[in-house]
Amino acid sequence: MTNKLTWFGHATLGLETDGQRLLIDPFFNGNPAASAKADEVAADFILVTHGHGDHVGDAIQIAKRTGATVIANAEISSWMGRQGVENTHAQHIGGGYHYPFGYLKLTLALHGSALPDGSNGGNPVGFLLTMNDGKKIYLAGDTGLFGDMRLIGEEGLEAAVLPIGDNYTMGPDDALRAVKMLTPKHVIPIHFSTWDVIRQDPADWAARVAKETGAQVHVLKPGEHFSF
Ligand code: NI
Ligand code: MN
Repeated sequence: MTNKLTWFGHATLGLETDGQRLLIDPFFNGNPAASAKADEVAADFILVTHGHGDHVGDAIQIAKRTGATVIANAEISSWMGRQGVENTHAQHIGGGYHYPFGYLKLTLALHGSALPDGSNGGNPVGFLLTMNDGKKIYLAGDTGLFGDMRLIGEEGLEAAVLPIGDNYTMGPDDALRAVKMLTPKHVIPIHFSTWDVIRQDPADWAARVAKETGAQVHVLKPGEHFSF
């Protein structure tokens, strides 16, 4: 089984696995790095890590158009319901659930989560997905470095998607330390260079990771994908 991870720019990802189409943090319209528009993407499920505008993005609009189920923490999923999203599934940190695309567990993330209208978005999360072929991918979301990434690494990761932009999230140095704790086979850096304040050189970071860890870094351009 091949899984296809597409980076649409910033923190927006598409994941196709076992015939299911997932969008993660779907921020297209108003995203200077976006390689697609909100009205042209497909989704069966939409995963939202936290309430910030660059992650909630166009989730409401896409969910209404496609009928996709929005998966998020309890606070964000009930907020989505109040915005008229018909299908939502609430989870919370430490809890997992079996979906058609695999077993999805919510993880800790160190960040904020206020929603665009100021509503309480609960705690931010990351996602640990065990796909139906048994491969695991960790989507860290917006987060600072935390030592419990070691526990996530113990699960045995095929891939990890990490922010490297600095300023709002881990920067290159801490993201490198994260790779050492997570020990994934593959790493995809995101959440950088969308704006000047998070500008980074991903090739430089990839070289450091290659030198100091056993992980293989895949630096994508918006619109490009990685199959695993
Ligand atoms: Ni954020
Ligand atoms: Mn963000």
